[in-house]
Amino acid sequence: MNNHPIGIFDSGLGGLSVWQELIKILPQESLIYYADSAHCPYGQKSASEIITLSEHIVDFLLEKGCKIIVVACNTATAAAIHHLREKYEVAFIGMEPAIKPAALNTLTGKVGVLATQGTLNGALFKQTKEKFANGVEVFTQVGYGLVELVENGQYTSQEAENLLREYIQPMIDKQIDQLVLGCTHYPFFIPIIEQITHGEVTIVNASVAVAKRVKDILLDKALQADEGQRPQYSFYTSGELALLKNLVSRIFPEGEYQVFQKIL
Ligand code: DGL
Repeated sequence: MNNHPIGIFDSGLGGLSVWQELIKILPQESLIYYADSAHCPYGQKSASEIITLSEHIVDFLLEKGCKIIVVACNTATAAAIHHLREKYEVAFIGMEPAIKPAALNTLTGKVGVLATQGTLNGALFKQTKEKFANGVEVFTQVGYGLVELVENGQYTSQEAENLLREYIQPMIDKQIDQLVLGCTHYPFFIPIIEQITHGEVTIVNASVAVAKRVKDILLDKALQADEGQRPQYSFYTSGELALLKNLVSRIFPEGEYQVFQKIL
């Protein structure tokens, strides 16, 4: 079991921002990534639709022998992770909006959260905010249209900059000094966000913490791959193969991997 892959999925290509962090701290682990780009975005779908889609993906990843599963999607975590944990025996690691570090580090007492509608409306966000925001003002903004730009490989476009400016500037005007990226697609916009915020706002990306959590869980469960194991990387998409290839080749230019289209 130890040399079995870690499964990781997202509504689309955004979870690759988590994948990138996983390979940095778990270089011997094999990974199977599933991008449900044909059904992306999940942000405006109902929880029951997201649960059904997630179940199909989990069944596929389990057929591939995955030893643990990372739900690299804030929206799917909010809608489906409780259900998945009840239904399957495998361990799931999900995303949580990183309000805790933002609230701990803010000097202005104001933090911004950019996320999908599904995440901001979900119980997980409300609980996280109630638990960790104490005394800190939290400004939220739905990132309408941003997920689609990453899916289409347009995350450095003028359109991306215009939308991000429209969403972030009002929060800067309210003096936020921390901006939580509550969607795994958004780390691809970090260079543009840094331009907009002139480096004066800390961008909080939960992917790094999630990758550490995966490492801890593998240790706890004694499921780490053997030292020196040569990892294998596969990527599946229910959408267009060319879009997946394009993003993977940008984030992993020298790497060896396989890509497939797989409609579930
Ligand atoms: N990457 C997903 C997330 O973290 C995007 C959700 C969507 O498809 O709308 O929420």
